[in-house]
Amino acid sequence: MNQIHIAVILGSLRRGSFNRQLANAIAMLAPAEFSFKQVEIGDLPLYNQDHDANPSAAVIRLKSEIAAAHGLLFVTAEYNRSIPGVLKNAIDHASRPYGESAWEGKPAGVIGVSVGATGTCMAQQHLRNILAYLDVAVLGQPEAFIKAKDGLFDPDGGIGAGSKVFMQTWMDSYAKWVKHHAVST
Ligand SMILES: Cc1cc2nc3c(=O)[nH]c(=O)nc-3n(C[C@H](O)[C@H](O)[C@H](O)COP(=O)(O)O)c2cc1C
Repeated sequence: MNQIHIAVILGSLRRGSFNRQLANAIAMLAPAEFSFKQVEIGDLPLYNQDHDANPSAAVIRLKSEIAAAHGLLFVTAEYNRSIPGVLKNAIDHASRPYGESAWEGKPAGVIGVSVGATGTCMAQQHLRNILAYLDVAVLGQPEAFIKAKDGLFDPDGGIGAGSKVFMQTWMDSYAKWVKHHAVST
């Protein structure tokens, strides 16, 4: 496999999102054959099972982008000790109709940054629970619970010096995981 395409699912719609910055910054640490594309989830309707047979254009687009990706990267905020509703809405959309989930078998990484000391730990644990049910192969280690702080990002939008070694280790593990599963599925 030459190129590896990663669908990035961002658990924040905020313009100045730390998680968007984190997604962009860790992509810079990936091997050259990896490309990352953020999946739009902000224009999805609220999930309604009545519409399974007649999905909106935004839902069709979401599912086709997930299906076409070799791997997934979830970068999420934590809202009230869980994942933001917009992210759960997107996950539900791409999981249906029953038996036609776009998520099944995809290798994935889960990471997130928050202003709280626990660094999205609870959101990530809830997300892992959901993804396990959907048969997504989530990287177990290393975990990365990141607290937003001065210097986390450098002036060019990369990971700042103080976190670079750790984040490179995370990305190396993620890239290895995706390559292994993308080849074997
Ligand atoms: C509705 C809401 C709930 C939040 N709950 C948590 C929380 O449970 N834990 C936490 O660490 N931060 C929480 N925060 C603060 C977020 O960490 C902070 O807003 C962060 O910037 C969100 O990520 P983003 O910058 O990518 O949007 C919450 C923020 C909002 C708006």
